[in-house]
Amino acid sequence: MSLAEPRARSLAGTAMGSPGPDVAPALDVADVSHRFGARRALDHVSLRVERGSFTALLGPNGAGKTTLFALVTRLYNNREGRIRVFGRDLTREPSAALAEMGVVFQKPTLDSDLTVRQNLAYHASLHGMAGRAARERVETLLSRVGLADRAKDKVRTLSGGQSRRIEIARSLVHGPRLLLLDEATVGLDLASRTDIVRIVRELVREDGLSVLWATHIFDEIEPGDFVHVLHAGRIIAQGRSADISARANGANLADAFRALTQDTTRAEMAR
Ligand SMILES: Nc1ncnc2c1ncn2[C@@H]1O[C@H](COP(=O)(O)OP(=O)(O)OP(=O)(O)O)[C@@H](O)[C@H]1O
Ligand SMILES: [Mg+2]
Repeated sequence: MSLAEPRARSLAGTAMGSPGPDVAPALDVADVSHRFGARRALDHVSLRVERGSFTALLGPNGAGKTTLFALVTRLYNNREGRIRVFGRDLTREPSAALAEMGVVFQKPTLDSDLTVRQNLAYHASLHGMAGRAARERVETLLSRVGLADRAKDKVRTLSGGQSRRIEIARSLVHGPRLLLLDEATVGLDLASRTDIVRIVRELVREDGLSVLWATHIFDEIEPGDFVHVLHAGRIIAQGRSADISARANGANLADAFRALTQDTTRAEMAR
């Protein structure tokens, strides 16, 4: 069963100059900047998540990953630049754009006093889903993340890795086609991290979901993945991981990242 539920195809014509909803990328961030007072957290960031792709947003602490997520999910108002989700402008059509998105935030947001099933059911009701269809979807998603047997347990009894898997299941309850994950593996041991990455890659491969995976961990990225490298609020490289490594004469992405950040630091000092 496909987890990304088909949505009604738009019958509206394609607006001049912008791709229509049926051909647009899952996420299109164009020339987005954001300031906190005098500090510029994002500086003319443009990036895309193509449909059905696992796309990485790679950046160290303070790069601006969470700020970008806050703009894409409308926690902050986007004032500079444009964000489109499957062709829907986030400012002009916020409900349609947000309905396409599932989000796993950097900070865990499950209610630890509720059971696993209650957490997911609550999310379903927030999205206007109820009854048997909602219950079945919750059970399907719990099986999908390998935790159907924990449905009746309170969230506080789960391990960190299990809680993250529940958050992934919850993010998919309303049938989004774009999944955003902000450092979903942070603080987990290697086995749990590997499990989470595997589950998310399966969702892309088997269910056609489009994923933006924010991380600072190089080994979560495969050579064929499309990567946007964010450093101090700027995109400093974009492309297939293997191509970025080759262009920077690095043996791997970690090497390439070191070379690229030395370059940008030198360029900034020269300005
Ligand atoms: N609410 C805020 N007020 C002021 N400055 C902020 C705020 N949130 C973030 N910043 C600053 O914006 C920059 C980007 O922070 P952000 O949290 O987006 O980075 P990040 O890539 O998510 O980092 P991490 O890997 O540590 O989560 C940092 O310099 C941070 O100090
Ligand atoms: Mg962050």
